[in-house]
Amino acid sequence: MKHVIIKGIGSHVPDCVLSNADLEGMVDTTNEWIITRTGIESRRICLDTEMTSDLCHEAALKALENANISVCDVDLIIVATVTPDMQFPSTACIVQRKLGCVDIPCFDISVACSGFVYAIDVARNFLLNNLVMKNILVIGADKFSSIVDWEDRSTCVLFGDGAGAVVLSRDNTNDDSEPGILDVLIGADGRRTQMLYCLGWGTMAPTESEKVGKRERFVKMEGREVFKEAIKRMCAVMEDILLRNKLTIEDIDCVIPHQANMRIISAIAERIGVPEEKMFINLQHMGNTSAASIPIAIDEAVQVGRIQSGDLILVVSFGAGITWGASLIRWK
Ligand code: ACO
Repeated sequence: MKHVIIKGIGSHVPDCVLSNADLEGMVDTTNEWIITRTGIESRRICLDTEMTSDLCHEAALKALENANISVCDVDLIIVATVTPDMQFPSTACIVQRKLGCVDIPCFDISVACSGFVYAIDVARNFLLNNLVMKNILVIGADKFSSIVDWEDRSTCVLFGDGAGAVVLSRDNTNDDSEPGILDVLIGADGRRTQMLYCLGWGTMAPTESEKVGKRERFVKMEGREVFKEAIKRMCAVMEDILLRNKLTIEDIDCVIPHQANMRIISAIAERIGVPEEKMFINLQHMGNTSAASIPIAIDEAVQVGRIQSGDLILVVSFGAGITWGASLIRWK
């Protein structure tokens, strides 16, 4: 089978930093509580005038430059987001307009924090089965600050805004030692939707909003359940993808977990036996950026030299749905 490679990567976060000290002035919390329970010190938050598509646009420009291709070479845009600019049309269409590459197909996928892993699987299948397409822009982006209840201390301290983009391209090699996306494994359990959800303006949302209150439309989370399930599912999908590729964790050079909570990541590292130096963590200054978390982390890991050419990386995600996914990537 031919390979699909990550030809370029880029990310973008808003300038505005929201520190734990800032949050102390907004809700009944402390820097110490947030750091001990989550590991997060600060996060980036959009201005009201900054949209998800703006984050996508900036990240996409960097990914295209890194891939050394023109926007005219892009054949499809997929945006993974649960905070689209509007209910419709898709944020991908708005990004297409901003990039100026009209006529190519565009769509969004809604898989919360697992969105990026799902999107690279979708894009990979397009490239392997549709030989007309050569380059696909895949963007994971969320402006979670727009759906967080800023009066709910148990959720508002966790999230940040951002976008990460990759250019996926078909490559003619079929050797697993060459750069490429070697495998992707995704899954979901729709019986657990209540664990983490946002009614927003969905059809289940109360129509008499004045009676129920605007806060009903924001993110709701059963924190402890999410915590336990995230560890269980991320460990399982990591083990499964390693097993089916006849690999062990010793073969992996860098693990990029979804950046939700330091304690979740530490528990996974302990259970799977990942040495600390192989686990890349940037949630201290990003918080949980949802669908953007993994591509932002990969980009940062490359920039600081934690991922080198030829390295085998394992990315693993967990999110609302509940959903999960993992991918094995040989870096370019
Ligand atoms: N500051 C101070 N106290 C707080 C805060 C806060 N920000 N938030 C909650 N508390 C209080 C609670 O009210 C509770 O007080 P009580 O004992 O008087 O009732 C106490 O702290 C303990 O609350 P718990 O919810 O039991 O705290 P826990 O140790 O479970 O930590 C946390 C909460 C951090 C949310 C944890 O459950 C967690 O990380 N869960 C995973 C959630 C997650 O990462 N979600 C991200 C989205 S999903 C994803 O991306 C994978």
